[in-house]
Amino acid sequence: MPYTESAVIYDHMMKEVDYRGWVRYLVLLMRVAGKESRRSKIEGERLCEFACGTGNISLILSRLGYDVTGIDSSGEMLEVARNKIARRNSNALQLVHHDMVTYCSEGAFDRAVCVYDSVNYISSADALARFMSNVYKSLKRGGVFVFDASLESNSLSDASLFIQRGKHKGIYYHRKSEYDPKAKIHTTYVRVKKDGRVIEEVHREYVYGIELIRKLFTEAGFEEKFAAGDFTMLEAGNTSERVHFVLVKPDND
Ligand SMILES: C[S@@+](CC[C@H](N)C(=O)[O-])C[C@H]1O[C@@H](n2cnc3c(N)ncnc32)[C@H](O)[C@@H]1O
Repeated sequence: MPYTESAVIYDHMMKEVDYRGWVRYLVLLMRVAGKESRRSKIEGERLCEFACGTGNISLILSRLGYDVTGIDSSGEMLEVARNKIARRNSNALQLVHHDMVTYCSEGAFDRAVCVYDSVNYISSADALARFMSNVYKSLKRGGVFVFDASLESNSLSDASLFIQRGKHKGIYYHRKSEYDPKAKIHTTYVRVKKDGRVIEEVHREYVYGIELIRKLFTEAGFEEKFAAGDFTMLEAGNTSERVHFVLVKPDND
């Protein structure tokens, strides 16, 4: 199962990721949606991070003043997040162990985010449509949803080259990716050696095109404000490796 044995080494594997920069970008995108992001406005806003993993993004958002709920389907990832929250004494952060596709909390949130390829783990267009519909229902009117998706250019450029090895807390790991352009599946094999045992996790990411994703969230009722390419403020296109969509639930719904 993905994100079980590897949960304790996830943050080590991601040590090069600039989570602070990513959150700055998310806040900037939320501003594009026409919503204030000054601290005075953020304070107490209810934000849901779908697929929060070990809580890196959620913790930074909660420090900015958001009242954060993090949802993830991996109990092991949430356990790592829970320990971090306890160490940092962060109160305004709740964790929920749930599949994000089926999670719905009617009108509960002002903001929602889902980042770092997490929607690519959703294995069919039907499930992606269900996720969009549930996020829509979980937002208040005027609520904002920002999420990213890894696109095919990313898989084509990176997959065959990507190999990572490391050791953390006495656990050796080896990560290797491949991309099947026919099936549009990007697979990462994460091999973990711990206590003399070798366990392999297979992580499958499903690559969706911008137009299909757009169709699904539009059908769910969202209004698109922006589709930003590759961490810029430029519109995403066919050669972009990653898109961040900025969506709004209309006020009059
Ligand atoms: C690449 S990690 C990203 C974690 C975190 N957002 C970050 O930026 O570090 C993908 C996360 O998605 C979670 N995930 C995958 N499918 C999910 C689902 N259907 N429901 C909830 N979480 C899911 C995994 O457990 C994992 O924590």
